[in-house]
Amino acid sequence: MQVIESVEEMQTVAMQLRFGGHLIGLVPTMGNLHEGHLSLIKQAKEKSDKVIVSIFVNPKQFGPNEDFDEYPRTWKEDLKKCEENGVDIVFHPSVEAMFPKDFSSYLTEEVVSSVMCGVSRPSHFKGVTTVCLKLFNLVRPDFSFFGQKDAQQCAVIKKMVRDLNIPTEIKVGETVREPDGLALSSRNQYLSKLQREDALSISKALLKAKELVDSGIKNTDRIIAEIIHLLSQKRRIRVIYVQVVDKDSMQAVKTISSNQTLACVAVWVDDVRLIDNIVF
Ligand code: PAF
Repeated sequence: MQVIESVEEMQTVAMQLRFGGHLIGLVPTMGNLHEGHLSLIKQAKEKSDKVIVSIFVNPKQFGPNEDFDEYPRTWKEDLKKCEENGVDIVFHPSVEAMFPKDFSSYLTEEVVSSVMCGVSRPSHFKGVTTVCLKLFNLVRPDFSFFGQKDAQQCAVIKKMVRDLNIPTEIKVGETVREPDGLALSSRNQYLSKLQREDALSISKALLKAKELVDSGIKNTDRIIAEIIHLLSQKRRIRVIYVQVVDKDSMQAVKTISSNQTLACVAVWVDDVRLIDNIVF
């Protein structure tokens, strides 16, 4: 397995792979790899013959009072997991290499990113789209893999790829959960035992919502009310948003009429921000 830190080298090596006829799969990550990332690497290996994992904690997607400094950095463990899971190249650039001091070009998707997390984290998606566009330009992957847990991120990136004719196919891997239902996230490790117990109500509320939909309830106000009711039973939870949206546009839906609809939740569990969603 090769580790590349320089952006120029990444671009050259990826170009050589492409000219050599290889199909390239890119798994963009911020490190602290868990089973969710590993399942994306597995899918990337199935679809492509060279798998590149980027590990870069992107400062541009954290707001001024967010957890950029505390974000878990587990380089040695990540490298071992990549090696064990058959990754070909780990791209691990420094912040200065990706965003030199005079960096001043950003990419903004204006509609899909304007709701939900786009409201509560105003500069977040601009940071995500900018770093992903840079990664796509450096690697020129045939396939790029993202996790469904970040449903809005997936929709924003798909929209950017479509709007700008970026030659990569976005593949979305299912959310991987703990046996008790908690969606895997690097931020779960900030949770104390008691906070984790309360956090379990997120997946439970989403499952209850799915039961309601399966039993014939299609009115989304009713479904949202039920989710908020279940979450608000927990002392440590403050709801940031609960919305039922179309999976591509992320715009609110009033009545569920297709399997293109998601319930999305963001909460604070004390000072830990978690998101999750379920497809109806
Ligand atoms: O989902 C993430 O880990 C990040 O948002 C991503 C896509 C790697 C961009 O920094």
